[in-house]
Amino acid sequence: MKNYKLVLLKGDGIGPEIVDEAVKVLNKAADKFGFTVEYDEALLGGCAIDATGVPLPDETVAKCKAADSVLLGAVGGPKWDTLPGNLRPEAGLLGIRGALGLFANLRPAVIFEPLKNASPLKGEIIGKALDIMVVRELTGGIYFGERGRKDVNGNPAAYDTELYTVPEIERIARVAFEMAMNRNKKLTSVDKANVLESSRLWRETVIRVSKEYPEVELNHLYVDNCAMQLVRDPGQFDVIVTSNIFGDILSDEASMISGSIGMLASASLNENKAGLYEPIHGSAPDIAGQGIANPLATILSVSMMLKHSLDQPEAADAIEKAVAKVLETHRTPDIYTDGTTKVSTKEMGDLVCSLI
Ligand code: IPM
Ligand code: MG
Repeated sequence: MKNYKLVLLKGDGIGPEIVDEAVKVLNKAADKFGFTVEYDEALLGGCAIDATGVPLPDETVAKCKAADSVLLGAVGGPKWDTLPGNLRPEAGLLGIRGALGLFANLRPAVIFEPLKNASPLKGEIIGKALDIMVVRELTGGIYFGERGRKDVNGNPAAYDTELYTVPEIERIARVAFEMAMNRNKKLTSVDKANVLESSRLWRETVIRVSKEYPEVELNHLYVDNCAMQLVRDPGQFDVIVTSNIFGDILSDEASMISGSIGMLASASLNENKAGLYEPIHGSAPDIAGQGIANPLATILSVSMMLKHSLDQPEAADAIEKAVAKVLETHRTPDIYTDGTTKVSTKEMGDLVCSLI
């Protein structure tokens, strides 16, 4: 029987509660589809700062490198907000992305049929099904470029640098083209090539890689236009590929359109398709420990893990179907509407398990 080694980075705030439910669901899927999972835990973010003084201890990196896959809850909270940049929980997140070489961040924005009314967009705009895959470059660009403080004409100044190499652009472009090949064969590359030199190189390179994928229809949008198009006509998008910083911004926008930020999962993959999976929402410190957090985004992250890293697509489908089914009748408070039954974090996990 196939056995997988998983590291859990439960993190801060609601992280531990939602990861516990996702583990429950994964165990149920393992029983049903005939594989086993071994778990280990490691510290990342605020909990790591409290225990060790740094947001990403070496031990965490070592454990994650040795695992088949990593499941992350969420990191951060007001308690650590006043620490210097390199010691904040977010630095741990960037650190683990870099250390594991997780250059490809997949952020699907989908609308779950029963939650259609939760979208802030009106009927006719959101009429078509929303199913966008944002492919964000995750280990390059301005997040990792040269930065610093200096003196400019006697004034204190600061700078961050956007830099991309051709191989970095090529590999993320290939991930996006492959993704498009498995979907509706439409790819939108987003840049700011009317202004930025790094974007011109991005566009040239994406066009060159496109020759390997003649079946994919490629178009290019400037990031400002893309932000506008996402709310004007989100149905026009299939796969979007973009840089680290543009992807950060556009993926939040795309997820908001779906109206269910508590429902969306993400995958960050390296060259070997090993990955780190996490809900796209944050650690929600205001509701931590109350048993009311929505565990579905983390549960759906497990489904992405089964599909992209563990090669168990049937188990992944079973989890997605169970989530779609449960939404028809039961909701956590964040997505509750009249006519459905309000349930706790744990009850939601149990319900999903019962439908697998
Ligand atoms: C995200 C987050 C992170 C990012 C922060 C927390 C560092 O916003 O995953 O989108 O900017 O990448
Ligand atoms: Mg973000």
